[in-house]
Order: sequence, then C-alpha cells, then structure tokens
Amino acid sequence: MRMYDIIKKKRDGEELTKEEINFFIKGYTDNKIPDYQVASLLMAIYFNKMNKRETLNLTKAMINSGETVDLSQISGTKVDKHSTGGVGDKTTIALAPMVAACGVPFVKMSGRGLGHTGGTLDKLESIKDFKVELSREEFVRISNEINIALCSQTANITPADKKLYSLRDVTATVENISLIASSIMSKKLAIGSDAIILDVKVGSGAFMKNLDNAISLAEEMVEIGTGFGRETIALVTNMDEPLGYAIGNGLEIKEAVETLQGKGPKDFYELCLFLGSKLLVLAKKTSNEKEGREMLVNTIKTGKAYKKLLELVKYQYGDTSYIEDTELLPKAKYVLKVESDKEGYIKSMNAEEIGKCALILGAGRDTKESEIDLSAGIVLNKKVDDKVKKGDVLAYIHGNNRGKVEEVKEKLKNIIDVGNKNKENKKLVYGEIT
Ligand code: URA
Repeated sequence: MRMYDIIKKKRDGEELTKEEINFFIKGYTDNKIPDYQVASLLMAIYFNKMNKRETLNLTKAMINSGETVDLSQISGTKVDKHSTGGVGDKTTIALAPMVAACGVPFVKMSGRGLGHTGGTLDKLESIKDFKVELSREEFVRISNEINIALCSQTANITPADKKLYSLRDVTATVENISLIASSIMSKKLAIGSDAIILDVKVGSGAFMKNLDNAISLAEEMVEIGTGFGRETIALVTNMDEPLGYAIGNGLEIKEAVETLQGKGPKDFYELCLFLGSKLLVLAKKTSNEKEGREMLVNTIKTGKAYKKLLELVKYQYGDTSYIEDTELLPKAKYVLKVESDKEGYIKSMNAEEIGKCALILGAGRDTKESEIDLSAGIVLNKKVDDKVKKGDVLAYIHGNNRGKVEEVKEKLKNIIDVGNKNKENKKLVYGEIT
C-alpha cells in the first residue's frame, strides 16, 4: 500500500477502506509517513469529506494507535465532557471541580489550542509547575484519590490524534465533521468513562458556523459513543460571542477561579450549571437536573468547588498560590483599552475574529513549534445586548508587543459592533441530542 494512492483516492472523492485508514494512521503514528503527505490527505478529506463508515474506522484506528485507560479501578460513575472548541471556553476548568465536589469522578483528557480556539491544557500551564502530562498510573491514582484529573494525551493514548491535531491546527484542516468527530471521540473512548457529554459549539467562533452542521456533528458523535456502549449526549450551545469575558490562557484561569469563588460571568456560570446538572443525572447522583443544579450551586456557596480546584492543582504538581492569588498568573507588559465612540447596544462581536486577535497577541500557535504567550489575550468589558455609552470601555487588550496590541485595538473597534438593540434574544443552548 502507498500513501500516494490513498491521497489520490480521497482527492478523487472515493471512499477509503478500513485497511487504508489503518495504514495511514499507523504509518503516521510510527513516523513512517511524513507531515506533508498527511497534510495533503487531510485537505482532500476536508474537501471531499468522509462518510459515516470511514469516520467510524478512523475513530477506531485512532483509538488503536495507542493504549486505552481502564477506569474500572476508580469507583463511581465516571463522567467526561468535551467541547468542540470555542473562544473563551474555559468550561472544563470550572466545571470539573464543581462536578467532582459533588462526589462524581471527573477525569478528562484535554487538548491544546486549535485554530482560533483555546485549549484547556495551554490554559492550565499558566499555573506554575502544573503538570498536564501524566502517566497512566498517575492519572488513575490521582483520579482515585481526589475524584478529578485533567491531563494531556500522554504519548501512549491516542498518539495519532495528538499528531493529527497539531498538524490540522496549522494546515487549515480543522473544520470537518469527520475529523472533529474522530478526534474527540477517539480521546473519549480511549478512556473508559461511563458517561460522556459533548458540548457542540455553533456560531461565529465555533468550527461549525451553522446549526445544521452542528447538529450533524453532534449526531455523528453521539452515534459513535453509543455504538461503543457509552452513554453519550450532546448539547448544541452558542458560540456567536466569546464565553464569559476573558480570552487568553492566564486570563481565562483567573476567570475560572473567580467563577468558583461565585464571581463569574453569568453566561459562563450558567453553562457550567447546565452541563453539570446533566452530568450529575448521567452519573446517577440525582434523578433530576433541578436538584443537580442546586447541588452545583452549593459547591460554589460552600467553597467546595474552589477547594477542589486547589486540590487538583496540588496533585498535578502545580503551585497553588497561583490560584489563591491570581495576580501571580503571567502578566502582560501592555494593557490597552478599547473605547466606544458611539452610543447604543452591543449588536455582535464575532467570536472567531476575536479569537484571531488573541492569536495575533500570541495566545495561540502559528506553527506547530510556536511558543504561546500565556499572559496575552483580551478581556471584554461588555457582552452582546449590553448598553453602551460613548467613551465606555469595550475591552482590554493584554500583550507584550506594543505594535501587535495597537493592531488588535484597531481591529477590535470594528469587530465589536455597537448599534441598535437586537430584536431577538440570544440563546445559550439550542438543543440536546441523545
Ligand atoms: N476538539 C478536539 O479534541 N478535536 C477537534 O478536532 C476539535 C475540537
């Protein structure tokens, strides 16, 4: 079998066989197939798509590229959550401690930034010494001891996704249903959690820009998950504007900590309660979402969720003083304000464009080798539908390169659209797929 023929077949719109998919995944994982050939295949998949059979075979090949983690040694119903990627999406960092504080094990393999979206691992690395690369033994031990663990794909768990993910990130081949579904589901299925909740983002800042595509992605992932015997549900949620106010790694950790201290943004906190209450029902901790919500609110009121985050940081070798005093988190040299020159309401703020501004500031990667600036990003001061007066601050830009901060300031003035009040109310959740 030759990689050339596989690329050509997909370029010509044909279906790839299971053997061909296994060949390219194994060859790439073993470093026998170079990046440039896989990048070409990814682009062919992007244009010509994969059918359900191919997507399932791709998911299986990615799971088989490494080891799987048996969580049966961890007691209780283990739950996992995954977002398809958004701007300002720091949900895992607040949700995991909230759910774990309710006594439900929350064990998760997370990702890094992808395209214009941020990644949980990069965010966690703004906490000094926080170790995201855990061995399988460490992962199981920590989960068992404290009910929570957040780690990267270690070299031996879905290594194929690890390589493909970073290649897709820099070759404009992220936005494809099969590639996203197989990437997410292989990671979820390689870890033996009992219940999975998928947060499928839709809108300007999501990889799926319209509701139909988001629903197709959600359906495909739920089908794969349930096909593997895992309880899987998907929620389609709004990513037309960034989630919360903070975008950028260290800035988002600060916002997640504030949320656990009961001072979080309304939309972000609400999403955590929404997803969390469903997770508690899936884990059979409660029979209804209303009670689940109360349990989660209680973890905030009593400080239990905040303490759980501290525990997580400690067990994953991080410096807990960065949580106790978020002023210690990486700080940018320049913080510039964007002020409104108009009066009215925030009509829209294109989340993808804002995510790209964060990339310009250094909050994400340009190439696989790029270093991330953990202090860089944007803190919005308004949300869609908020009233604005002339001179009001719309956002703060954090960066270490004065030229880039100025560049982003000019861009944001156009991206944050101030005008008449929107006629329709914005929605946080569009629906659920089971
Ligand atoms: N998250 C992932 O893990 N993979 C994708 O492809 C997109 C979002």
